[in-house]
Amino acid sequence: MRKVLVINASPRGQRSHSRKLTQLFTQKWQQQAPNDVIIHREVGQENIPHITEEWIASAFTPPQRLSPTQKQTMELSDQLVAEFKSADVYVIGTPMHNWSIPSGLKAYIDHLMRFNQTWTFESGKPDGKYVGLVNHKKMYILTSRGDAGYNQGELNAHMNFQTPYLRTVFGIMGIKDITEVTLENEEYGGETFQESLNKTHQRIADLFEH
Ligand SMILES: Cc1cc2nc3c(=O)[nH]c(=O)nc-3n(C[C@H](O)[C@H](O)[C@H](O)COP(=O)(O)O)c2cc1C
Repeated sequence: MRKVLVINASPRGQRSHSRKLTQLFTQKWQQQAPNDVIIHREVGQENIPHITEEWIASAFTPPQRLSPTQKQTMELSDQLVAEFKSADVYVIGTPMHNWSIPSGLKAYIDHLMRFNQTWTFESGKPDGKYVGLVNHKKMYILTSRGDAGYNQGELNAHMNFQTPYLRTVFGIMGIKDITEVTLENEEYGGETFQESLNKTHQRIADLFEH
């Protein structure tokens, strides 16, 4: 039995295409693995607070030296990290917002990126040699974008600060096995979008073919 953590990042509800992708994905997952547990973490419509000065000071204080107030400051982050580390599979549904990720998802990642909990330094010194502490996990990134051509080798690839960022930050935590599924052309609607939708649904179906 695996635990699948679904993280939705769109501020939109019913109208959100990335949410529809995570719904479709989890339906298929459940059909294939009915005993797996699926849990949800909402970061688009529920407020994930920004980290603060107090948070930063607390995050870099050894756990045994935290004051009661500092412990309280870290409570949400501790919960999010525990939930994240307890999962085996991650499914992120996210829009592209201003060529990057929505701020709610960024705030969530700031809470997850905890020194000595989700990542550390190889040598104990800040020499850029990061060691991930969240290993042997699988991640799916299901994303919706208004425009197209952001994938590697395409016209707008240089403006994509969304999926390369997610791969980098989760890669530093140790998650290297990442599959991307992209829905494009949402802003154009009509046939162009329908084609993209068909392709994306097929791609999701293919993920479940053996
Ligand atoms: C604030 C905002 C910024 C956006 N920025 C971009 C962008 O930089 N590039 C792009 O292709 N689409 C952009 N879009 C379009 C969204 O990526 C598109 O509508 C997507 O379907 C949103 O995901 P959702 O349907 O799950 O909410 C933006 C939309 C909004 C609301």
